[in-house]
Amino acid sequence: MDQAREVWREFFHLPMELKQAYANSPKTYEGYGSRLGVEKGAILDWSDYYFLHYLPLCLKDYNKWPALPASCREVINEYGKQLVMLAGRLMKILSVNLGLGEDYLQNAFGGEDIGACLRVNFYPKCPQPDLTLGLSSHSDPGGMTLLLPDNHVPGLQVRKDGNWITVKPAPHAFIVNIGDQIQILSNAIYKSVEHRVIVNSSKERVSLAFFYNPKSDIPIGPAKELVTPGNPAPYTPMTFDQYRLFIRTMGPQGKSHVDSLMSPR
Ligand code: OGA
Ligand code: NI
Repeated sequence: MDQAREVWREFFHLPMELKQAYANSPKTYEGYGSRLGVEKGAILDWSDYYFLHYLPLCLKDYNKWPALPASCREVINEYGKQLVMLAGRLMKILSVNLGLGEDYLQNAFGGEDIGACLRVNFYPKCPQPDLTLGLSSHSDPGGMTLLLPDNHVPGLQVRKDGNWITVKPAPHAFIVNIGDQIQILSNAIYKSVEHRVIVNSSKERVSLAFFYNPKSDIPIGPAKELVTPGNPAPYTPMTFDQYRLFIRTMGPQGKSHVDSLMSPR
């Protein structure tokens, strides 16, 4: 975990020319760049990021991963392998907690054909931290996020009962966020968490967000077992591809995306 965070810190400290060699593709967002484009005139987030795919294997492309620092690809690869296994174990626990068979969620995600990707965030020092955010309020669109925060610098805030609560990083612990797809599959028994990142005037911050997602082209809707007269199914099934497109067009807007999937009752 420490090695993974530190190779990325080194990458973001490289001169701009070297990082620009991995400039992100506007279509797939893979590579190095600044925040996803939103409409003109919007307040931009104070962060750089690097986005890459682990799964499905057809999207995994080492050429799009940094070659510097020298150990980067090897460390990132091992990190991803371990996190896919950890996420698979958590999926079983979440399924059992819902009263479903332990493989329910994994199967609903497409079994072996799940998606996994990494977004590394780099939040530089910000001279006027009260004027912007590191990352605007959003819920993660995918299944589940394993977040490795900076060990020294807090920044992540989660919304609870209308208040923003700053999450204290604990050494060698992941923060696990439920994403919108698990909210939908669980018929909102699990709620995706609304969160944002604040910036800091004296310290930079690095975080690794590992996203564990359903296969992108299967419809995701509430588990039949969880739809009851007292808890009817509010969500119109949608594939993760469709959902992601919808979010990228609109930009981050709290939890409004998943809420808007609710069909009128
Ligand atoms: C994200 C995210 C939080 C953080 O990348 O989706 O919420 O602490 N990151 O950087
Ligand atoms: Ni997030």
